[in-house]
Amino acid sequence: MEKKNVVIEAIRMRRSIRKFDKRPITDDEINLILESALWAPSGMNNQPWKFAIIRDPSLKESLSTLTHYGSVIQEAPVCIAVFLDHTRSYDRTKDVQAIGASIQNMLLTIHSLGLGGVWLGEILKNKEKVAELLGAGKELELMAVIAFGHPKEEMKGLGERERSGMRDPLGKKVFFNQ
Ligand SMILES: Cc1cc2nc3c(=O)[nH]c(=O)nc-3n(C[C@H](O)[C@H](O)[C@H](O)COP(=O)(O)O)c2cc1C
Repeated sequence: MEKKNVVIEAIRMRRSIRKFDKRPITDDEINLILESALWAPSGMNNQPWKFAIIRDPSLKESLSTLTHYGSVIQEAPVCIAVFLDHTRSYDRTKDVQAIGASIQNMLLTIHSLGLGGVWLGEILKNKEKVAELLGAGKELELMAVIAFGHPKEEMKGLGERERSGMRDPLGKKVFFNQ
């Protein structure tokens, strides 16, 4: 029988969660999530990320007006805005890739803690307004907002049948193998 691999299991079982119940998130949980971002790889280990933690309901309310996905932000007890720090940047493509890796680390940690979250990119249409709202310096460029919390019961997980079809098969994606 195949040995259970917790990393592969987490990668496969994580799904975007957009509905949350009212249970709060602890500081320890937030720290674990952010710490996992720090361990993402980055080009020349330049660690080009910066984070803003958003918990205040009225601030979340203001943030929610800046995206079509405002209801997700309002319902989530915590959001983390992820910025690219241009003072640490050396190659935009590689920096953005590193930020993506840090976000995936956070999403996997959120999942592994029994929480749920979603990567919000649509809000980037208002990235300057988000930066202003959060008092971010001019050197910081918004890359994403992650909204997370305790998943509403019905959101907890998808069965095998619901999950199949959510990804193209590998055969459609590998174009060279020699
Ligand atoms: C760069 C990026 C931007 C995204 N932006 C949004 C968004 O603005 N709103 C949203 O609800 N989901 C957003 N998502 C989540 C995707 O919709 C989701 O990851 C995709 O449908 C696959 O579903 P899964 O995460 O459950 O596997 C984004 C994901 C990525 C990687």
